[in-house]
Amino acid sequence: MNHDFVEKNIFVMLVLTVVAISFGGLVEIVPLFFQKQTTEPIEGLKPLTAMQLEGRDIYIREGCNNCHSQMIRPLRAETERYGHYSVAGEFVYDHPFLWGSKRTGPDLARVGGRYSDDWHRAHMMDPRSVVPESNMPAYPWLFENTLRAELTPKKMQALRMVGVPYTDDDIASASVAVEGKKEIDALIEYLQQLGLLLRHKR
Ligand code: HEC
Repeated sequence: MNHDFVEKNIFVMLVLTVVAISFGGLVEIVPLFFQKQTTEPIEGLKPLTAMQLEGRDIYIREGCNNCHSQMIRPLRAETERYGHYSVAGEFVYDHPFLWGSKRTGPDLARVGGRYSDDWHRAHMMDPRSVVPESNMPAYPWLFENTLRAELTPKKMQALRMVGVPYTDDDIASASVAVEGKKEIDALIEYLQQLGLLLRHKR
């Protein structure tokens, strides 16, 4: 089979192109599944608590990730502003990842501990009350909605199936932990733990 033949036969060309691209993909992607750096949690990483997990689901439901990334790139301008760059081991219990690529607002990968709970409450109720130039939407309903406790253990069970190390105790006590709580409290608990493990490293 010579070059001329391949160039004049669109089907053969197509098959060979797919083979070439697949091979390139495999060489790049497959090793990542076997590298400790990308598959093992960093030291001290714990699965989210029942409240934090519910908070994360609210974050997804409200589409916070459409305006906020959770991925600090290893560039000077980013680490000066947000802190230590993100590493793969911080995200091994995240299903799905919320890295994002659109930054209408600041990156939130290390927002945990940056503000008080009260600041977050004021900000979520009315962003303009604390940041006058903000164009972030307000989320007043989070202060009224109550969490649905019966779903929390099921979510944890599902996550355990994909490798998040929840214990039977974690799952058994999940409903009680979120019962009667407001959505805003779960969301803030989720935000306040983001990125803490590497927060003070440079
Ligand atoms: C339309 C885009 C948009 C959406 C959607 C959005 N935000 Fe924001 N967010 C912003 C902008 C812009 C800022 C910067 C101004 C400010 O602080 O309000 C911001 C700031 C923040 C900050 C402060 C970050 C810092 O380091 O100062 C937090 C925390 C935050 N948002 C959380 C959330 C959460 C949680 C949600 C979902 C419930 C959300 N945002 C949805 C645009 C958005």
